Amino acid sequence: MSTPEVRRLVPHVVEGVADADTVTWARAMTAAFLRPRVEPADLARAAASYAGQRLRGVYETGDPAPVVTLRSWDSQMTVPGGEVTVDAVTSIGVRSTHRRRGLLRAVLVDDLAEAARAGTPVAALTSTQGALYERFGFGLASWTRSLRLDARAARFRVPEPTGRLRTLDVATLPSAAAPVQDRARRRHPGSMDRVGHSWSALMTGLNTFSGMVPDRGRHAVLWSDATGRPGGYVVYRVARDWVAEDGGEIAVLDLQATTPESYRELWRHLASLDLVGSVTWSDASVDEPLPWLLDDHRPVTAGTTREMLWLRILDVPAALGARRYPVTDRVVLAVDDPARYAAGTWALDTTDPVAPRASSTTDEPDVALDAATLGALYLGGVDPRVLARAGRLEERTPGAAGRLARLLAAPSVPWNGIRF
Ligand SMILES: CC(C)(COP(=O)(O)OP(=O)(O)OC[C@H]1O[C@@H](n2cnc3c(N)ncnc32)[C@H](O)[C@@H]1OP(=O)(O)O)[C@@H](O)C(=O)NCCC(=O)NCCS
Repeated sequence: MSTPEVRRLVPHVVEGVADADTVTWARAMTAAFLRPRVEPADLARAAASYAGQRLRGVYETGDPAPVVTLRSWDSQMTVPGGEVTVDAVTSIGVRSTHRRRGLLRAVLVDDLAEAARAGTPVAALTSTQGALYERFGFGLASWTRSLRLDARAARFRVPEPTGRLRTLDVATLPSAAAPVQDRARRRHPGSMDRVGHSWSALMTGLNTFSGMVPDRGRHAVLWSDATGRPGGYVVYRVARDWVAEDGGEIAVLDLQATTPESYRELWRHLASLDLVGSVTWSDASVDEPLPWLLDDHRPVTAGTTREMLWLRILDVPAALGARRYPVTDRVVLAVDDPARYAAGTWALDTTDPVAPRASSTTDEPDVALDAATLGALYLGGVDPRVLARAGRLEERTPGAAGRLARLLAAPSVPWNGIRF
């Protein structure tokens, strides 16, 4: 079979409506994900959110619709001590009649090559399936965990509320919440900036995946401290109405807090809502502090842990140089990468804590690993000693995995609550 030709599209948006090629692309993408069909006019408005992003498709002669789609854009991702630009990749969908012909490979390889040429140090994605992306050098770097709070049993250790709460709507959410999100995301390696259009989709539920069916049961609240400075917000939806015997259920869609006080008061708000028996959050951090706010941990139940971020290192010196390290050391890593982006022997030297360096070296390696393993380690959320025990990292110098663990340790558990 001849090599499929990948075509790149630049979305054109006029007066909030996307051009015909972009709409056709969007229809093909949602069909690949088995989503409901969306009316063309709605799709044209939804696809306007792709403005400024990169669309890719593989097209067959005589067919205006692509048989494969991929969308990507540049995003800022928090790393320990700083941030890095990532190629955020999503919407990889292959027409059901064209699967297993190497078409996912064709679009993804093309996107990664362009990102690498542009000097983007890291690519990031979230995945519908667990076995898809390691072969492309992506490593699993963060997880989320679901939790459930029995609201009626929750008693807060600090009994009286502080600060002030204000409800937000689709018009006020972006301007009020965006500066808070920007501060909050810096507290968690792996957190990414929220792109403009996603605020209204968060509040209305209108997106191509939902078939553009609005969710009118969404609410948002902003918390500010005694001086009036906003410290956190929560967006939630009514998952089960209050007519249920044990009260309604609220599902958190996004909760961002910049201080312990704002975190506590947002949870107090959720737990104290009239008519609500439970609060759930499917993409909470794996180390959510919620139980520690209460005088009894038991009203909080932790549920399923799910994969979140897969990271692919495209430029080792730039990626490792973008983060900071808690100890000074020099560890030499031999990285195997058939796609060549991360391949080589690299000395990670943190002798200067404000200017750590990863540079090519001819020294003997302390550890040997592949590119996906390096991606998994990058945020400090995976212990190299565990990967050594799994045979995913080879310790060539005794104790090197432990040294690497101390070097890469993150100041907080990696978390990104926004699936993309
Ligand atoms: C998942 C999907 C993108 C795969 O596309 P595809 O064109 O069939 O994949 P390719 O033929 O390019 O396969 C690339 C590689 O991945 C492997 N692969 C593909 N689908 C796989 C799966 N579901 N599980 C495990 N491996 C898979 C192939 O064997 C191939 O391996 P190789 O290159 O090492 O030989 C496609 O089936 C699809 O669109 N599914 C529905 C939407 C979806 O889930 N998208 C993923 C979003 S994260």
